[in-house]
Amino acid sequence: MAKMMTFEERLKKHHDELRWLYMELYDNSDMFYELCTQMERFYQERSSALKERDLEKEADPAWFKKQDMMGMMLYIDNFAGNLRGVERKLNYLQECSVNTIHLMPFLDVTKGKSDGGYAVSDFRKVREDLGTIEDLAHLTGKCHEKGMNVCMDFVMNHTSEDHEWAKRARAGEGEYMSRYFFYADPSIPQAYERTVPQVFPTTAPGNFTWLPDAGHYVMTTFYPYQWDLNYRNPRVFNEMMYNFLFFANLGMDIIRIDAVPYIWKELGTPCRNLPQVHTIVRMMRMIGEIVCPATILLGEVVMEPAKVVPYFGTVEKPECHMLYNVTTMATIWHSLAVQDTELLKKQLDTVCALPKEYTFLNYLRCHDDIGWGLDFAFLQTQGMEEVAHKRFLNDYYTGRFPGSESRGQLYNDDPVTQDARFCGTAASMCGLETALAAQDKERISQAIGLDLMLHAYMLIQSGIPMIYSGDEIGQLNDYSYQDDPDKCQDSRYIHRGAFQWELAKKRKNKTSPQGRIFQGLDRLEQIRKQDLVFAEDAAVYTVPTGHHGILCVIREKDGRRMAGVFNFTSHDASVPVWQDAQGQDMLTGGAADLSEVPVAGHGFRWIVF
Ligand code: GLC
Repeated sequence: MAKMMTFEERLKKHHDELRWLYMELYDNSDMFYELCTQMERFYQERSSALKERDLEKEADPAWFKKQDMMGMMLYIDNFAGNLRGVERKLNYLQECSVNTIHLMPFLDVTKGKSDGGYAVSDFRKVREDLGTIEDLAHLTGKCHEKGMNVCMDFVMNHTSEDHEWAKRARAGEGEYMSRYFFYADPSIPQAYERTVPQVFPTTAPGNFTWLPDAGHYVMTTFYPYQWDLNYRNPRVFNEMMYNFLFFANLGMDIIRIDAVPYIWKELGTPCRNLPQVHTIVRMMRMIGEIVCPATILLGEVVMEPAKVVPYFGTVEKPECHMLYNVTTMATIWHSLAVQDTELLKKQLDTVCALPKEYTFLNYLRCHDDIGWGLDFAFLQTQGMEEVAHKRFLNDYYTGRFPGSESRGQLYNDDPVTQDARFCGTAASMCGLETALAAQDKERISQAIGLDLMLHAYMLIQSGIPMIYSGDEIGQLNDYSYQDDPDKCQDSRYIHRGAFQWELAKKRKNKTSPQGRIFQGLDRLEQIRKQDLVFAEDAAVYTVPTGHHGILCVIREKDGRRMAGVFNFTSHDASVPVWQDAQGQDMLTGGAADLSEVPVAGHGFRWIVF
């Protein structure tokens, strides 16, 4: 009885706003009634263990901001074969200090038309080679027992063309055609193309696909086999919410809303970040809070900061719990290539000035390409022009630029806009691949030092660090995708290689590159988990160093401070950080004078004072 009340109380809290927004978008009270009925059904079907978890997390709403939060994203097959395999590797993940695993898409797809799992053909079925829905529930249960959280992708913008709805739409069933964007007449697709930018200009040009058998065009923002769902249709919204709740009931702690800015389309607009997207995300947030408050939302908004921040909603009407710190990620790599941290400092100051409620996910790279979404207005004041600078960054990271040690490949090199993006693993971008090939000890050390410096920077930022599986042992680019006909067109596979368990065995060997990276990271993670200065509500700000290539970040909590000093140049230097302060190096334990801090080229210091 008491539990039932809980649902009712939660519903009561949000009902009016939810109804208001729903009616604003759909003006359909029957469908709203259905939604509420289904919400109650999902609540009733939710296990008592998860309901317990709901109460715990409701009582501690900042649980996902805690300083021990540490994420790792992984493809299940690459990492451990299948879901049961992942379960067997949980101890390894814990050894990596990871308490949150992002399972990359695992739902059913069509081989050769999967976009790395982002073209779902059945939202209730796990890809056969990875396991079953039962395995998934088993894994989340095991993770929860071990104090770990699980995150999954919820690809709500589109389905695969092999999804049942798409098949029926293709066969001409009007009910299903209305769940997508179908046009017999080319004039509407043409009108859209005038205002909608392209996501994959080279690998999948245009935003529509002609279906000769159906005699219609269908909207396909991403690949031609990924059909955009039409959220104007309340049936689409309701059904996708039921899918969301289905996964929440399997124990998902974090739902990553894939490609969220794209989910509402309007002719004559860029079809990105439209106000209705925010209505949908806000409704989703409330639905989650009513049925499964233990489950939180991570929005995938790969846009400039001004477009990212609105996805947090407002403090009174929040939308996503967490968002990616995407501009910082791209700016880190820019800073390294130009050996100048001015823009990174500006970026960090912008993020630090945001309300503390806003939680960012910090990362160095993910399963996608790195797009050079930098603040070009600012860079212009430094004499860097957009097209030329992007070309430089791509030359630099592909290793074509003289002196660059980085390796990787371009992605969607658009001859029209010259807007290529970049793919590579963190270690290959840091030069480990070239250094190992040359068997040059000095260069190997430099690459490892740089890799650790960047991770130390990732860890000092406010928010949650998310490491890509394999980066903890410095995994290199994997070129084998080029021999796979299903993958060879998509260079993102270069940094999605299978996890090298043989190399991981060397993680305890302090002289191997794997061991040096693994242990170096481990040391940083231990400090981050334990030291008061890493509390989630610590103040974080920058101080000037007088050196354009060296950035200093201060974290401060209850009078305890630390300085993180990061040298983005290849030259050793000394910089003043804090007048008349003596501190202690957090890694070596040695004394450190903050009025003059020496930092090796591409090195860093963590000093507490
Ligand atoms: C997201 C994913 C990306 C995928 C796209 C389409 O951006 O991160 O991998 O290609 O959505 O679903």
